[in-house]
Amino acid sequence: MSTTEHTHSSTSDPSQLLAVADLMSLKGRCAIVTGAAQGFGAAIALRLAEAGADVVLADRNEDGVKKKAEEMANIGYSATTQTVDIFNSKQVSAMVNEVAREHQGIDILVNNAGIFSNHYFEKMPVEEFQKTLNVNVVGTFNCTQAVVQEMKAVGKGGSIINIASVDAFKPSAEGLAHYTTTKHAIAGLTRSLAMELGGDNIRVNAVCPGAAMTEGAISLVMAGAPAGIDVEAQWNGIVEKTPLRRLCHPDDVAKAALFLGSEMSSFITGAFLVVDGGILVQPSEGYVPPSGGE
Ligand SMILES: NC(=O)c1ccc[n+]([C@@H]2O[C@H](COP(=O)([O-])OP(=O)(O)OC[C@H]3O[C@@H](n4cnc5c(N)ncnc54)[C@H](O)[C@@H]3O)[C@@H](O)[C@H]2O)c1
Repeated sequence: MSTTEHTHSSTSDPSQLLAVADLMSLKGRCAIVTGAAQGFGAAIALRLAEAGADVVLADRNEDGVKKKAEEMANIGYSATTQTVDIFNSKQVSAMVNEVAREHQGIDILVNNAGIFSNHYFEKMPVEEFQKTLNVNVVGTFNCTQAVVQEMKAVGKGGSIINIASVDAFKPSAEGLAHYTTTKHAIAGLTRSLAMELGGDNIRVNAVCPGAAMTEGAISLVMAGAPAGIDVEAQWNGIVEKTPLRRLCHPDDVAKAALFLGSEMSSFITGAFLVVDGGILVQPSEGYVPPSGGE
């Protein structure tokens, strides 16, 4: 294709442009959200369903996803459930095959399921390091590989959204070497797959949230300091370092995922959408903060 053909493949005639509501609509699309029983995953599932997608809530917590699906059905949203451990490639393949058969393909995959814990590196059991890699990295690999095969077979393209973290850029706190390693790995996977799958119009992007009080984070904070790290103190310091002066809300992440899943982001791949209230933008030494207009 020549440069001119590329340039003219999209119109700038306002009467030809899709309306914003149509760009945001996911009607007729099927979306799998992993880790959808609670936290970010549940919030993402809700927004994708609101936009019209047929959402599959996938989680190893069977009761949790069933409860979420019921809550969604009560407000008129379409959602089914799948009980799956994303580290188990056989379970993942079976889920993806079943969903693809029932929905004539899969359009969106949100790789959200993940685990986190606090351990000083020197005292970290290798099993903890391995477990975190298994869920956060190998689990994402399993789901993505199975879904990409289905997307390619159907030939309509698709959107893969990896829920990474601000830890994909740099460590957010002490005791997270294992977790930060996994999120850096997700960054590498996101970039590599954006390159490899772009020719099939499969877009691969990451959302990088800052700290949020999800059910998982609450358990971590409530556990106190079993590994000698005062997790509560860590979390207490976050808001004042955040330019927007609050923690991340699950719906902040859900809105970013909706954008990346929809036609609003049709020319975006290999991107990192940071949803952190600005915490990654730490001031240089000597920076004088605004006085607040006084
Ligand atoms: N909460 C935060 O502050 C924060 C910040 C940045 C990024 N993240 C990332 O966001 C994602 C979601 O985090 P959250 O805070 O909502 O967590 P959460 O613990 O509240 O929820 C995680 C969900 O994933 C499920 N899950 C865990 N392992 C699984 C497996 N092997 N197979 C299937 N399901 C599994 C759990 O059952 C749970 O429902 C994670 O990838 C996490 O690393 C969280």
